[in-house]
Amino acid sequence: MSERAEADTVTCVVENRIAWVSFARPGKRNCMGPKLNRQMKRVIEDLEFRDDVGVLVLTGEGTSWSAGMDLKEYFRENEEKGLGAIRGAQREAYSWWERLRWFEKPTIAMINGWCFGGAYGPLFACDLAVAAEDAQFGLSEINWGILPGGGASKVIAELTGFRNAMYHGMMGENVDGKKAAEWGLVNEAVPADQLKARVTEIANVLLGKNPQALRATKWAISRVREMTYDNAQDYLIRTQEAANSFDNEGRKEATRQFIDEKTFKPGLGAYDLKRSGKE
Ligand code: COA
Repeated sequence: MSERAEADTVTCVVENRIAWVSFARPGKRNCMGPKLNRQMKRVIEDLEFRDDVGVLVLTGEGTSWSAGMDLKEYFRENEEKGLGAIRGAQREAYSWWERLRWFEKPTIAMINGWCFGGAYGPLFACDLAVAAEDAQFGLSEINWGILPGGGASKVIAELTGFRNAMYHGMMGENVDGKKAAEWGLVNEAVPADQLKARVTEIANVLLGKNPQALRATKWAISRVREMTYDNAQDYLIRTQEAANSFDNEGRKEATRQFIDEKTFKPGLGAYDLKRSGKE
């Protein structure tokens, strides 16, 4: 199969406010080379402030989510060129993962197949993750003689317990979607033929929430993980107060619908965004 042009290494379809973004090098199991990394950053940045996009889903074409970094184009070819090329390629990869981690809208990783090594970067970058039960997750680095770099060791240590992380990193054995859910690498695993339907269902729930509150929530949860309780509490007070000065109408409208109108209960679902113009 001939290699794809840079612009074709990522595909994106927007449907009903969900942006379905795909790693699109199925012949290379969607491994991440410099071209894909550059294109992914462009696609993500383009989607971030589009009014017709409320949720981003990251998935892969073919049998793979992503087989990690491209051993030829990312590693070997840049190592042959020297340190400048190596650092340049690292920045291209890490910068889109970073953009995705702090994306303005909710993001969901939809893991349809292989997920190896460097792919743990974008896996971690997404807010939520749903896998096919038969997807395969692996820190394969140990099998070809390196450590799980590019953030992968950090990801496994963050998402699962110490023993699982050590076993996963040192043994080079894959786990399937079900085990990945048990370990906390993904929220849940479903049969492959139900994967898209389940992700769509989750995305639609998110689309029914106040977008400002969603953004504030995802950033708050990411930030507080490294804070003491007291620092987190203080940070959250400040963040909520700042959010109030930026957008207080949604909250007031929700309070009105609950207390005055009695048309919804916050414990049982979201208020009607359409009536507050927040959709
Ligand atoms: N880097 C570069 N090329 C890769 C790749 C990677 N990470 N993963 C797959 N490819 C290429 C293969 O070289 C092959 O190319 P070719 O058609 O030109 O020969 C093509 O993708 C298909 O791969 P293949 O191994 O034949 O597919 P498979 O379905 O039998 O196996 C994997 C799939 C994912 C198990 C296997 O490709 C693999 O082990 N990939 C490496 C995974 C890895 O260690 N990633 C960590 C990097 S940090």
